[in-house]
Formats: sequence, C-alpha cells, structure tokens
Amino acid sequence: MWGEIIRYDEVTSTNDLARDHARRGVAEGSVVVARYQAAGRGRQGRAWCAPRDRALLCSLILRPPAALARSAWLTLLGGLAVAEAVRQRTQVPATLKWPNDVLVEGRKLAGVLTETSRVGETQVAVVGIGLNVNQEASDFAGELAESATSLQLATGKPWPADELLNDVVEHYRAGYQVLLEGGVEKLRQQYLALDSTVGRAVQVEAPDGAWSGRAATVDEHGALWVEDAAGDARKIIVGDISIRVEA
Ligand code: BTN
Repeated sequence: MWGEIIRYDEVTSTNDLARDHARRGVAEGSVVVARYQAAGRGRQGRAWCAPRDRALLCSLILRPPAALARSAWLTLLGGLAVAEAVRQRTQVPATLKWPNDVLVEGRKLAGVLTETSRVGETQVAVVGIGLNVNQEASDFAGELAESATSLQLATGKPWPADELLNDVVEHYRAGYQVLLEGGVEKLRQQYLALDSTVGRAVQVEAPDGAWSGRAATVDEHGALWVEDAAGDARKIIVGDISIRVEA
C-alpha cells in the first residue's frame, strides 16, 4: 500500500476525516475508509448515501505541488483508477462519464469528489471515492433505481471491497506519478480510451442556462470541449457546470 489505511466504522464523511488526518501530518497516499457515512457528500451539494458495508467509501490524501493543486486531473484520475481497477478485477466494462462518473451500461457505478484545503504552506487534496460494490436493487431508492448500479448487480455475485480498495489506490498512485512527471498526454490517452462522453450529444447545465452540443474532446487540462449548435467549440471546466449525456 502507498500510505496507511485508516479505518473507521462510521463517519460523517470520509473526506472530513481525511482532511483532519492530513492536517495532523499523515503520509501522502494514506486513505481513510469507512463502513458507513452518516453525511456522505456528492458533487454540487448532493448527498451520497450507501447502506453499511455495501459500498467502498474512501478518501485518498494527497499533497500535490502548488502547480497541480487545482488540476482537474486529480479528480479525473479518481474515475480512471476506479474504471481500470473494476475492469481488471471484475471484467465489468466500466466507462467514464466526464468528469468523474464511472458508468456501467449507462448507470452510475462510482463517483469522485475532490476537495482541496490549505495546511500551513501546503495544499492538501482529498480525493473521495464512492464505489457501489454489493448493493442490491432494493438499496437504490427513488431516481437511483433507474440510474445507479453496483458490481454485484452487474455481475450477479458479491465482491470484496478491500481488494478493490487496494486496486484503486494502486491505479491512482500510478496515474499520479505520471501526472507529477508531466505525462499528461499519456493520462489523456488512458482517459479517452475508457471515456463514453466524447462524440455524444450532451446537455450542458451552466449557471446562466442550459444548452445542447456534442462533446468533442478532453484537453490536457482535463477540461471538456463541447461543440455548440453554431459549430463553435466551448470549454467546460470541472466544477463549473454539469453535463447530461443524451440517450
Ligand atoms: C459524485 O459523484 O457526486 C461524487 C460522489 C463521491 C462520494 C464519495 S464516498 C467517499 C467520499 N466521502 C464523501 O462524503 N464523498 C466521497
């Protein structure tokens, strides 16, 4: 393992605990993992809920150099690490929906929430990952019944979350090393190989209104370029906007 694994039975959010451990100086690459989150967070203010012991809920602690502290790649690497780990261990053909959802047959299998903070002179990034492992159909209520899935649902059998945790951290570590060495083009190719957004019609939900276009590519900064109805390419930055891939 890269750093240490810090285990909890129940937490508010593993991202909160990871930030606290980072402040206390835990080694980079350490990961906080919990069996249950009472206040799990998703992107854009959404909640992230999972029954006890059914999902992998973890947060990886990073101390990126200042130039990379706000890089979208910290988040994109989370989705990439999950998709690669899932494909290798379970043979489930997981794909990426920009920026950081991991999908199986159009349903969401995992999500990533990166939060950064400053500790003294150092930037800390906490990459929180929620991977649906052993949920059954009845564990997904409301609109999740149509939009979410788990490895158990995709394969018909349960999977060990601990092994997946090791796999995900190892894949993240490998990608992070490439990022530190400036190998963004290599990461971009790895990302695009598993991406299921580029080439598709998308609905962009921006603060000043929604518009439709076609996803064109993901650039070296991890931004998505979308071609609008007039044929102009517009840049979408992680965190600003959400996109909906149209059927
Ligand atoms: C999303 O797709 O909206 C992101 C979901 C991120 C969920 C994970 S679960 C572990 C970590 N702790 C949290 O509170 N959120 C992330």
